[in-house]
Amino acid sequence: MAFETYSHGHHRSVVDVHALRTARDCAAYLLPELTPGTGILDVGCGPGSITADFAALVAPGPVVGLDSSEDVLVQARELAAGRGLANVSYLAGNVYDLDFPDETFDVVHAHQVLQHLMDPVAALREMRRVTKPGGLVAVRDADFSGMVWHPPTPELAEWMRIYQEIARGNSAEPDAGRHLLSWALEAGFTDVTPSSSNWLYATPAERSRHADSWSERVLQSAFAEQAQERGLAERPLLDRLAAGWQEWAAAPDGWFLVPCGELLLRA
Ligand SMILES: C[S@@+](CC[C@H](N)C(=O)[O-])C[C@H]1O[C@@H](n2cnc3c(N)ncnc32)[C@H](O)[C@@H]1O
Repeated sequence: MAFETYSHGHHRSVVDVHALRTARDCAAYLLPELTPGTGILDVGCGPGSITADFAALVAPGPVVGLDSSEDVLVQARELAAGRGLANVSYLAGNVYDLDFPDETFDVVHAHQVLQHLMDPVAALREMRRVTKPGGLVAVRDADFSGMVWHPPTPELAEWMRIYQEIARGNSAEPDAGRHLLSWALEAGFTDVTPSSSNWLYATPAERSRHADSWSERVLQSAFAEQAQERGLAERPLLDRLAAGWQEWAAAPDGWFLVPCGELLLRA
């Protein structure tokens, strides 16, 4: 199976912050639709913390987490086992070619996945195929160009410029949040409920977690590899980006807002 280049990669500095995500922080728009017994497919589940929250909420309903990376699924399975969840399983697979019959799941969910794909419309069509009639496809994605921060640390502007080039170089759409509605309409959905929600990093603990992750990511993750391989940044610039993240986090009035678009799509 061939996959696109996933811009973030699966370095520990990336996966560890993804593993802190919860269904409440990332899928509040979907939670009112979930009841015990709901069957869910979580596409691009990564380390599976949101998937595991879903499993606890809908038990005994069956929940499947699917990702193109076998490595990250090892962590997802450990997390589910540690929580004693019996109704969740994790499988390797590709969102464009889901290995399930038509109309299998009540809900098919993808969080921060469409932004990494070359053909998000095809992905949405395939997600709808495996959703039962009347069920829901639910997607949420950040909008990188919509992110705002204070103080106006110049290294963060450089970080944004380089990330945009990396993602676009992978034929992905880092500003996915604002494109979700047009992708859904193109995929043929007619019953669409759009909404948005933010992540905010403004307490000392939130700032430090966000900055610690990105200052390591710019030096060690796929960000560093792609930036250097593609001539977007050399090591001294990456060092400055890492220091810039820490400088931003140290500001007592530091603020970083991540807007996310979200859609509930009736199949
Ligand atoms: C940003 S992570 C999001 C993980 C998780 N949904 C979360 O929010 O914590 C995106 C995930 O999508 C996966 N992915 C990328 N392309 C995929 C594809 N074609 N099929 C399935 N998963 C894919 C990546 O391996 C990665 O784990």
